[in-house]
Amino acid sequence: MTTITLVQGDITRQSADAIVNAANSSLLGGGGVDGAIHRRGGPAILAECRALRASQYGKGLPTGQAVATTAGELDAHWVIHTVGPRYLSGEDRSDLLASCYREALRVADELGARTVAFPAVSAGIYGWPIEDAARIAVETVRAARTAVEEVRFVLFDDRAYEAFAAQVG
Ligand code: AR6
Repeated sequence: MTTITLVQGDITRQSADAIVNAANSSLLGGGGVDGAIHRRGGPAILAECRALRASQYGKGLPTGQAVATTAGELDAHWVIHTVGPRYLSGEDRSDLLASCYREALRVADELGARTVAFPAVSAGIYGWPIEDAARIAVETVRAARTAVEEVRFVLFDDRAYEAFAAQVG
């Protein structure tokens, strides 16, 4: 049974077995959560990301997939990097966003992680409307078959927190 909890704040300040990064395909960093994780986590994470690019992800991590590295100086064992879809108004890409949560939880299960902190994947630079992003996130986690005991959504601002709170009820 997975418990969903909500926290407002900076995901890089969380203590959890795994912290999920809203990355891009390059795995080489960016803004938003990705920038914050690499800044606070230090260079070890980027070094592992480069190694992943040099081995199994030569063309980058595809959208909707997830892969783990260690967590450097973060208070976590692992960072699970996933690539959310950019929001496109003329195309339903919900399955790809749901896949980020499913795949991150699958990787968490492989690692034996019991507490996993997620940001609102795709809801920042990638432009996904927060209410819809929250609905997909919560529905997907509720439907997942996983041994993860706590999924903690870490929301940066009031609006994101309220959108998730409305879904969790
Ligand atoms: N802690 C928690 N949430 C945060 C933090 C933080 N430190 N910083 C931002 N958010 P985003 P995306 C919120 O843009 O939309 C990067 O350049 C933010 O307010 O981080 O999936 C990557 O490299 C929003 O609600 O991720 C990709 O190129 C949510 O986290 C691209 O951005 C996600 O915002 C990915 O865009």
